[in-house]
Amino acid sequence: MKFFADTAEIDDIKELAATGLLDGVTTNPSLIAKSGRDFMEVTREICGLTDGPVSAEVVALDHATMMKEAEVLRKIADNVCIKVPLTIDGLKTCKALTEDGTMVNVTLCFSANQALLAAKAGATFISPFVGRHDDNGFDGMELISDIRLIYDNYGFDTEILVASVRHVTHVLESAKIGADVMTAPPKVIKSLFNHILTDKGIEGFLADWEKTGQSITG
Ligand code: E4P
Repeated sequence: MKFFADTAEIDDIKELAATGLLDGVTTNPSLIAKSGRDFMEVTREICGLTDGPVSAEVVALDHATMMKEAEVLRKIADNVCIKVPLTIDGLKTCKALTEDGTMVNVTLCFSANQALLAAKAGATFISPFVGRHDDNGFDGMELISDIRLIYDNYGFDTEILVASVRHVTHVLESAKIGADVMTAPPKVIKSLFNHILTDKGIEGFLADWEKTGQSITG
C-alpha cells in the first residue's frame, strides 16, 4: 500500500521523505489555508520533495473554469495530480484531463456508487473520506470494502486512495481490504511506528548492554 502525506507543511513532508516511506502528498484548500503559504509556491516546493503524485485541488465548481485552473496547476510540475470534487462538472473535468494524460484524484467520495462513477470517468485515484464517514454515523471501512469489490468485479484501474484517515486502525483495515493508497496526517503516519513492547524491548536490551561495559564502535 502506498503512503501519501495529507499535509502542506514542508518540514513534515521532508521528515517523512527521509524515512523512505513517502509515496506522494495530498493537499486541499483547507490544508493550504492552514499552511499560510501561497498555493502555487507551496505546491511547487512539495512537488520537488517527492517523485510521487502531489494532489492540488481546483476550487471552481463549473467544468470550464475547472479546466482553466487545472491548466495552471498542471504546469507546476510533472507530478501534479489534479484534484476535483465528485460532481458532474468534476467528473467531466476528470474525463477530459485523464484522456489527455493528466493524473486526476476525485475527492469527497462518500458512496460506492460515486466511486463507480469516478472509475467510469477514468479517475487515477478515488478518495473516499473514511474519517468524515465515521463521524456522520456511517462505516468508513465498509465503504472501502464495497469500492474494492466493485473495482475488482470490473477490473477498473482507478486506485483507491483512502482519505480522511484519523488513526492507525484506519490504516490497518485499509491494508487488509487491499486499498491501493492511504493518505494521512504526518502524526498518524509517525504513530504507525509506535508499540509499547518495542519501547520496553529497547529499554531492556540497553540496560543489559550497559552491564557488559562494551562499545560497538570502540
Ligand atoms: C485528502 O485528500 C483529503 O482532503 C483529506 O484526507 C481530508 O481529511 P479530513 O477529513 O481530516 O479533513
